[in-house]
Amino acid sequence: MADAIVAEGLAKRYGQVKALAGLSLSVPQGTVLGLLGPTGAGKTTTVRILATLLRPDQGRGFVNGIDVVAEPEHARRHLGVSAQQTAVDGFLTGFEQLELVGRLHRLGRRRARSRAEELLERFHLAEAGSRAVRTYSLAMRRRLDLAAALVAAPPVLLLDEPTLGLDPRGRLGMWDVLGERVRAGCTLLLCTAQLDEADQLADEIIVIDRGRAIAGGTPEELKRRIGGERIQVVLGNRAETQVVEDILNRVCGGQAVVLPDQHLVQAPVTSGAQALIELVRRLDAAGIEPVDIGIHRASLDDMFLKLTGQTATPTVAEEEART
Ligand SMILES: Nc1ncnc2c1ncn2[C@@H]1O[C@H](COP(=O)(O)OP(=O)(O)O)[C@@H](O)[C@H]1O
Ligand SMILES: [Mg+2]
Repeated sequence: MADAIVAEGLAKRYGQVKALAGLSLSVPQGTVLGLLGPTGAGKTTTVRILATLLRPDQGRGFVNGIDVVAEPEHARRHLGVSAQQTAVDGFLTGFEQLELVGRLHRLGRRRARSRAEELLERFHLAEAGSRAVRTYSLAMRRRLDLAAALVAAPPVLLLDEPTLGLDPRGRLGMWDVLGERVRAGCTLLLCTAQLDEADQLADEIIVIDRGRAIAGGTPEELKRRIGGERIQVVLGNRAETQVVEDILNRVCGGQAVVLPDQHLVQAPVTSGAQALIELVRRLDAAGIEPVDIGIHRASLDDMFLKLTGQTATPTVAEEEART
């Protein structure tokens, strides 16, 4: 399968700040690569370079085999981009905005207008289409952003945190639309700071930190590496931890860990809900009443702690100290 998006050794500095320090990636056609990292990791810089909006200091980028630095105009014809820094002219209406993007993509006037109407409908913006974009809520702007990225039906999509700021229902709606595009054959580079989003949509994930890749693999591989799901039992006293460790080992097939000071016992699981039911039965039979019991899913923070020994969100001081 051909790679629809390729980056080779991308490097970019902003003054003293090294935003990218040799990032490479490739996305086979028709698949989704999740570029997962905390704020400041270099996600937006990567998208802007591949979208031809920013020149790298070093390295190369290709979209459908077209060099984005050497042939930006040509590359742009294959691209739909929804980036955080897209300037949306708030005085245009939603309809005008989409029509404009269509015209910029050299769709004829009629085609641009019919695409604008179609997409406003698709993204539940038909009513709002005749209103100025500056009156839109954040969620509506996000949907309009994505609609704009889809106007010219591009085969390659570069999306920078498309669900940032959306409520849970808005996120699910956006995930649906993206899944639909991919099933229709689109190739997607999806930047996100949310592990569950990458898990949901990506075929492969690259975890980046400070402008370089620190881990990669399928969502399953990554979750396995960082412990994925685990069952956690908090007890009222330390004495019961031993018995619960034995029970948890039987339910989860070993690997239970006791944190005696916290009266906590935990173990990795694969089908958590089933294991949880079994565990509750056995605890009940043993006459043990836990203070708390539940399934814990690894977050991006857990992943970073595991991969880098540091939490994911850099402090301002750290950001400034970085060179
Ligand atoms: N225009 C800019 N000027 C100076 N520093 C920048 C600029 N844009 C980004 N940076 C810095 O580059 C690093 C990577 O930023 P960015 O690509 O926006 O990361 P992300 O999108 O993952 O949050 C950060 O340290 C950020 O502060
Ligand atoms: Mg960003």
